[in-house]
Amino acid sequence: MTLDVVEPPRLSSAAMDAAVWKEAHVVDAFADARAARVPGTRMQIEALLHVLASLPAPPRRILDVGAGDGLLLATALAAFPASTGVAVDFSPPMLERARAWLEASGGRAAVVEADLVSPAWRAGVDGPFDAVISGFAIHHLPDDRKRALYGEIHELLVPGGVFLNLEHVASATPRVEAIADEAMVVHQHAQRRAAGEAVTLDAVRREYRERPDRVANILAPLDVQCGWLREVGFVDVDCFWKLFELALFGGFRRAGDQRESVRTR
Ligand SMILES: C[S@@+](CC[C@H](N)C(=O)[O-])C[C@H]1O[C@@H](n2cnc3c(N)ncnc32)[C@H](O)[C@@H]1O
Repeated sequence: MTLDVVEPPRLSSAAMDAAVWKEAHVVDAFADARAARVPGTRMQIEALLHVLASLPAPPRRILDVGAGDGLLLATALAAFPASTGVAVDFSPPMLERARAWLEASGGRAAVVEADLVSPAWRAGVDGPFDAVISGFAIHHLPDDRKRALYGEIHELLVPGGVFLNLEHVASATPRVEAIADEAMVVHQHAQRRAAGEAVTLDAVRREYRERPDRVANILAPLDVQCGWLREVGFVDVDCFWKLFELALFGGFRRAGDQRESVRTR
């Protein structure tokens, strides 16, 4: 399994930079290499499913925001066989893959092409949902849109519903970022060697630094994003899993007059 390294396209604004995801070669490189590229995929998904399973009843409707090829939604639908889903993304090649994958869930998922850069994305999406999930997508939006999107997601949830964001977050400092980058490089090198590829650590380091989707990343710190979630109304906000710059965090929409659960010690 290899990653195609291509020249990043010359695009200017943050929203335009995210457009690399509409290019088939970027999509292919990501989808074919996801598990090898992202350490801890299994634990991330187990943690996500564990939180979904903590709801008082299995989620009936699940929305995947920036769904890509549908990995998270397909996994959630497999775990909750009575649920239905909606996958939102702005990338036609990603949605094509999502359609193919989600068909295996017996037609329980709809696919919607929409750009999260504007609140208009909600036009094609009928709420409410018991759960909204997202994987490595929202960090492509500018920070003010991330925060606004969290509010829009909150409004789309039923009372008591949950939002879970599996995300690439910013390290606390450049030193910590360098440690995180090297951890990713070592992981990807080991995966590729195990797959029989005679690739050097230096080559992987260079490819990681020059990867085509890097231009589309606008990372925000985990604590700042958890603060945004609280500000837009989420309760019981927390990080459920974290490894360097990879984090699963989220919160719950208050149910009726429910208060946030409080520690007694
Ligand atoms: C790294 S992929 C992750 C895909 C999938 N969620 C996963 O966990 O494997 C990022 C996804 O975000 C989508 N994306 C990026 N910017 C977007 C935007 N402004 N509106 C909708 N989708 C966007 C891309 O098309 C891509 O499918």
